[in-house]
Formats: sequence, structure tokens, C-alpha cells
Amino acid sequence: VKCVGILTSGGDAPGMNAAIRAVTRAAIYNGLQVKGIYRGYKGLITGEIQEFKSQNVSNIIQLGGTILKTARCKEFLTPEGRKVAHETMVKEGIDALVVIGGDGSLTGARIFAQEYDIPCIGLPGTIDNDLFGTDTTIGYDTALNTILEAVDKIRDTATSHERLFFIEVMGRDAGFLALNGAIASGAEAAIIPECSTEVDQLEEFIKSGYRKSKNSSIVIVAESEITGGAMHYAERVKNEYPQYDVRVTILGHLQRGGSPSAHDRILASRLGAASIDAILEGQRNVMIGIENDQVVYVPFTKAIKNDKPINKELVNVLRTLSI
Ligand code: F6P
Repeated sequence: VKCVGILTSGGDAPGMNAAIRAVTRAAIYNGLQVKGIYRGYKGLITGEIQEFKSQNVSNIIQLGGTILKTARCKEFLTPEGRKVAHETMVKEGIDALVVIGGDGSLTGARIFAQEYDIPCIGLPGTIDNDLFGTDTTIGYDTALNTILEAVDKIRDTATSHERLFFIEVMGRDAGFLALNGAIASGAEAAIIPECSTEVDQLEEFIKSGYRKSKNSSIVIVAESEITGGAMHYAERVKNEYPQYDVRVTILGHLQRGGSPSAHDRILASRLGAASIDAILEGQRNVMIGIENDQVVYVPFTKAIKNDKPINKELVNVLRTLSI
């Protein structure tokens, strides 16, 4: 391998820039050429590609978003689109690819690598933390801290008005942000997709006598078709328990922004450096993860669509501490 292409794809996540910096610098350190590919897989199709030197990634470790821009590229989902992408890679002399993104982006990398025999390395970049084989994903810790800041503020007004708030957080179909956001903010409950089929989480929360000694209540709801979202629960409370004064806040895309936390910067730096080690070792079609503080290589097929489990101990901690 002589030249590595880097791209960010799917939803942006704080720490993606730290990862771009790490991949670039580690590649150059090891004598490889680096090319930045703009707008995710779209840049491979349109040829929006630029050679990156060390100074191209100066002063970006602290920035949220991604300097390479990102997109969810429909054309790359077709064999014709991937053929053009491959032709661009050949033309540009890119002979290995580092893809920073979530589930969909790594699925694209897996298919592409199978079709064209290119070493593709994935870095888990998503606030959702839903990739299997890594303790956390790049962006998750920062998003969690953003959630805490917002919930702390909402708590002030919730307490003053003695209201019940349903706060919806992102996560796609995973409840990591909701559950850990609830524990860390001292919320009264979390409604997460992982528990939705087992119990009626709203019923459980109300029955627990949530208002015994409290003058406000915060319930964090994970967005997802499975939970139905915060609005759904607020409507239910309005109909079934009209005595409660209910409000809803959907935190939305503010969860994706902001300067990455120390945790995310270090994670991104380690994963980025490890992606180049992996390429030099001849690894292909793996996501780099960190498990128990050790760098691990996780085959794409294991990392994606594998329903990373929620730790039930966390569910119990929340329940125990919110009495
Ligand atoms: O995967 C990251 C994520 O922020 C999810 O939590 C959310 O469901 C989705 O992306 C939102 O996507 P978009 O920015 O395209 O609306």
C-alpha cells in the first residue's frame, strides 16, 4: 500500500476531525501518501479528492463536525455507483481506504471491499454507540455530555413548575445515549428500545409512584420506531394521567455538534493510528475498536447489524437510584 484515502460518511460525530488528523499523521509518519475524500462516498464518485499533508490537519483536533464533510450517498448503494468509485480510486492511485462512520457507512465499505478487493478499514464514528466490538464509538461521549448539559438546564424549569418532562435523545435504534444520559443526569427513568418489548416502561415508571417525594420528573426517551418517541409518551400521559403537567423537549441535532471531549479525542487518535498499523499489517475489511482498553480488529460482518447489547446492570442502577 502506498496511498491511503480517508472519508467520513453518514451522520457526523464529534471526534471525526481528531480521527482524520490521526489517520493522516500516522500514514505520513509511516511513509504513506494520504488523500482526503470529500462528502463521503460521494467524493469517490465525483472525484472531490485532495492530497493531505500534515499541515492540512493542523488545528482540527478540537473541532466538531468533519472538515471532509459528510453525506449519505445513495449512488454508492448501487453496483454502478461503486464501479465509478473504484475507477476514481485507481485514477487517484488510492490503494487502501479508511472509512470513518456508523453502521451504514461500514456496510458500504464491506460491500465495496468484497467487490473490488481493496483493503478497507472502518473506524466507528457515530454518536449512537451502536457498533459491536468497541466499548464506545467516536462522538458518543461528547453527545452524552451535551445531553447532560441540556437535561441539567431543563431540570431547573421542570422543578420550578413541578412538571413531568419527556426528553427525546438520538441513538437511532439503540438506547445507549438515553440510558447513560438518564443515569448521569439523575433522570427518573429512561425509555429505551432494548426494553420496549419486555415491559410497558411508562406504566412501570408511573406505578413506581414517581412523585412521592419529588417536585419534578425527567424521563429520557430514546428516539426509535420501537419506543415511539417522546411525543407518544406525553400524549399517553395526557390521556391516561391528566393530573400531570407534561412537557416534551426533543434535543435533536444539537447532540451531534460541539468540540469533542477528551475521551473522544483520545479514542479517535488511538483508532486513527491503529488503522494505519492495521493496513501495514495487511489487515482488511475490519473495523478498529477499543475493548477493555485494548485495540481490537473486528470483522465488518460482526461490527454491523449485530444488536450491540445494553448492559442490564445499567438498567438496574437507574431503577435503584431513581426511587
Ligand atoms: O446516526 C446518527 C444519527 O444522529 C442518529 O442518532 C439519528 O437517528 C440520525 O443520525 C439522524 O440523521 P439525519 O442527520 O440524517 O437526520
